[in-house]
Amino acid sequence: VRRQPGKPDVQPRGVTQAAIVGAGLMGAQIGGLLLQRLEVPLVMKDLDQDVLDQARQTIEGDLDKRVQRGRLSAGKARFLKSNVTYSLDDADVAGSDLVVEAVAEVMDVKKKVFADLERVLDEGAVLASNTSTLSISEMASDLTHPERVVGLHFFNPVQVMPLVEIIRGESTSDEALSTAFEIAKRTRKSAVLCGDAPGFVVNRVLFRFMGACARAPRTGTPFTEVDDAIKALGLPMGPFELIGLVGLEVNAHVARVMHEAFPDRFDLDPNFQELAQTGLPGIYDWSRGRVPYDEVVERWQVD
Ligand code: 3HC
Repeated sequence: VRRQPGKPDVQPRGVTQAAIVGAGLMGAQIGGLLLQRLEVPLVMKDLDQDVLDQARQTIEGDLDKRVQRGRLSAGKARFLKSNVTYSLDDADVAGSDLVVEAVAEVMDVKKKVFADLERVLDEGAVLASNTSTLSISEMASDLTHPERVVGLHFFNPVQVMPLVEIIRGESTSDEALSTAFEIAKRTRKSAVLCGDAPGFVVNRVLFRFMGACARAPRTGTPFTEVDDAIKALGLPMGPFELIGLVGLEVNAHVARVMHEAFPDRFDLDPNFQELAQTGLPGIYDWSRGRVPYDEVVERWQVD
């Protein structure tokens, strides 16, 4: 692991403070990773206090787990916890050399977040986006310094998955790119440099597979058996189990973006969209394990 092909021969930006904007599922996990690996002050910023409280639980819970397992001293865990500021205010992000956004996957929202951050950040601070599918070039296009924007796409669960996709937009500078590679190295991830195309590499491949799996129940194979078959093939999770892990909304969103980009290659499976809208806990409800087939068969209609 720790591949670095494509890293420019340019000094990365030194990071003395990092920030996460959007402290939800991915933001909290990425924050926890940066906190433990970069060992610099971390600012977790969100618009919603409840989301910040949940992020604190995720970050501190992971540190506590490491202490219990003897992987971290109690003193170090205390220090790391005290190194995080949870904030509702962009002003607290000022002074960060690296900001990773993990807000909603809506282009206009991402653009506004970056525009607001540009007002408070130093000129050379790097803005990284954890987007799954959206264009890095477009996200940067309205900024005074679009060269500071780079894609840094982590995978769920962030602490465990060894890959990070690094995306170079049209304007991305060598320094921003080099900083992204440096973050990958210090967080002990394998970095793959990707073109700025919908779904980059992983989601472009993964969602062809997910779409094919989504159609399988329609041909009469219960989805639980699709999962079992795929797991027996050696993958760590079945596709429906994976939907439960990444979340119904994220799954539906990626499927929609890929369909819009390549309608001839990616079906817009109506079940993905409907499941996300109805707020059904999912085929896998993590608090209960597998949801009985009968409970969802009406939504996942077998032709
Ligand atoms: N959050 C945090 N840590 C988790 C976790 C979670 N949801 N699930 C498991 N872990 C940790 C465990 O604590 C354990 O850590 P430890 O070694 O320190 O004890 C370690 O992972 C291994 O866990 P388990 O032994 O319990 O379970 P498995 O061996 O079955 O592995 C898994 C769990 C790593 C989640 C594995 O099933 C897997 O790799 N699944 C595929 C995940 C995947 O493909 N993710 C990518 C999703 S796509 C994406 O994120 C992109 C987006 O843009 C859509």
